[in-house]
Amino acid sequence: MNIISHKSQMLALLGLGAVMSLSAAGNVFNIQANKPGAPIQPTMYGLFFEDINYAADGGLYAEMIKNRSFEFPQNLMGWNTYGNVSLHDDGPFERNPHYVRLAASGHNDKHTGLENEGFFGVTYKKREEYRFSVWARSPKGKKANVRVELVNTASMNNSHIAAVKTITVESTEWKRYEVILKPEESCSKGKLRIFLSKPDDVTVDLEHISMFPADTWNGHKNGMRKDLAQALYDLHPGVFRFPGGCIVEGTDLDTRYQWKNTVGPVENRPVNENRWHYTFPHRFYPDYYQSGGLGFYEYFLLSEEIGAEPLPVLSVGLACQFQNHDASAHMPVKELQPYIQDALDLIEFANGDTTTIWGGLRAGMGHPAPFNLKLIAIGNEQWGPEYPEHLAPFMDAIRKAYPDIKIVGSSGPNSEGEQFDYLWPEMKKLGADLVDEHFYRPESWFLAQGNRYDNYDRKGPKVFAGEYACHGKGKKWNHFNAALLEAAFMTGLERNADVVHMATYAPLLAHIEGWQWRPDMIWFDNSDSFRTSSYYVQQLYSLNKGTNVLTLTMDGKPVAGNKDQNGLFASAVLDKKTGEYIVKVANTSDSAQPVTINLNGLKKKGHEITLATVTTLSSADSDAENSLEAPEKIIPVTSAIPAAELGAVNKGVFTYNTTIAPKTFSVYKF
Ligand code: AHR
Repeated sequence: MNIISHKSQMLALLGLGAVMSLSAAGNVFNIQANKPGAPIQPTMYGLFFEDINYAADGGLYAEMIKNRSFEFPQNLMGWNTYGNVSLHDDGPFERNPHYVRLAASGHNDKHTGLENEGFFGVTYKKREEYRFSVWARSPKGKKANVRVELVNTASMNNSHIAAVKTITVESTEWKRYEVILKPEESCSKGKLRIFLSKPDDVTVDLEHISMFPADTWNGHKNGMRKDLAQALYDLHPGVFRFPGGCIVEGTDLDTRYQWKNTVGPVENRPVNENRWHYTFPHRFYPDYYQSGGLGFYEYFLLSEEIGAEPLPVLSVGLACQFQNHDASAHMPVKELQPYIQDALDLIEFANGDTTTIWGGLRAGMGHPAPFNLKLIAIGNEQWGPEYPEHLAPFMDAIRKAYPDIKIVGSSGPNSEGEQFDYLWPEMKKLGADLVDEHFYRPESWFLAQGNRYDNYDRKGPKVFAGEYACHGKGKKWNHFNAALLEAAFMTGLERNADVVHMATYAPLLAHIEGWQWRPDMIWFDNSDSFRTSSYYVQQLYSLNKGTNVLTLTMDGKPVAGNKDQNGLFASAVLDKKTGEYIVKVANTSDSAQPVTINLNGLKKKGHEITLATVTTLSSADSDAENSLEAPEKIIPVTSAIPAAELGAVNKGVFTYNTTIAPKTFSVYKF
């Protein structure tokens, strides 16, 4: 965040050429500073991760080779072959049995080899290192030289081979080979090419052909892309929900997400179809599969490393209800036991000691200490009577075995309406700890929902606003106004900290060339990424969440964009750890608004507020958005409030007068 002079920033935002008085009239916010209210949950402001928009394979998961195990239904999808290449299915990995055999081409001038197109190209940067690995054997025990190249097939000059290494394979046993490739040139749409070197009277078998940047997040070999994981970390998320979304449910039960297929050696994790490859015919990606390389071990580890509570979501035995309208698509309740066992085993995988089957597997994978799982969601966006019927036996079993685990249920796909009204009472009856609400809604909805949680039942389940985003009209996607309205709406999440315990914007990640759904919080191509203004809103909440809510009113009412509140939304918190009072104000109107902030109930004597900052997210153009070309067009700007504008506490009240520019979200810290 940049620090600039407060007054020049304000003037720039207000579009004023001359110095103006910042004294306020109207819009008087009264904050009860001496009565800390509900604690802000540590889980607040988190992340929802789903493998949609190539978020996992081709995105966060740093693997660069598509269809590395030759297990897509069309086994050579993503690969070109030359010369004498054949496919076999008796390889060393039981659940991924296919591999390729490279044999003599039969002619001195012909080559045998293959090349991979990567995800939207194999992208490499000059002098960076890439770790190539392959499982290989020489079936006849003859010495085989395998040449591995990074190539720019579009290049017209001689230097199109940017890196080359040779691997010698002699053993008849399957072994893993690894080399580092360091290209001399950069290329965004390159390929990985592999040749059987001449003399080619030898044969070599290749399986699980993989390449990662050597520099991954925290240096893990089966790791994450550094820039993307860093963006997640920088948000300081309280909770990390994974692996979806609809992919949890599957287009049918066979393609639901099965966590047990995503743990253990990566070479033996079976590929799963990704339902997002054909969800929208106008965004059709027939090569979109889940390798499982970013699996449940990696998700737990990532949660730990970004400091978020893990929140896995499991299938409740209902296939995606948008895609299946017949009961026969779902698992009958009386046959749910294997699904329930998956949930119980998952808790053991996360928390069990190393002598247990699943805790032992976790330890074997490199994490003997438990992951300390506290939350689990059963079912994604389910609805109808079939949902509570399916959920009930899961809840019984989990409660019995793990009474401390909190269970998250669903209120369906809509923010209100018949399903929502039916499911909330059902969740209460079942005793769900939290209820997941989803709302992808237009600007008008966000403007009208400032008071949404003010009257929620305080004795029922808590709220998990598990998927939400403001969707603009027409061609407006991650534009500033959407982010501003999210910021405005979130004052209501903060004010209702006693009932709203978790909130995650959705979706999280999108590949510019491979998205199915927008808006999204972070966009990327193969080498770069940018954070949207919605990201910065989430980050401003997360970095300024404080520890306790403070009551903030204007004319005795919460400031929630109500009529006669001039388009303002506001909330306040105290941070007991730092002693700071933090006030968030969104001005959604087109005019600058004078605002008076009164901190009431402070110590009458010897109390002064001399240090304060304001962080502002604003844009003169509501339609503006960040992009790869201009990633910092809209970013938060922090400035110190001059001491002259602050002052002594007068009869227990500290007053700060300011003006908030049109279309601006500001976070004041005193
Ligand atoms: O976030 C995109 C999709 O929206 C999720 O997969 C699903 O839960 C919701 O319908």
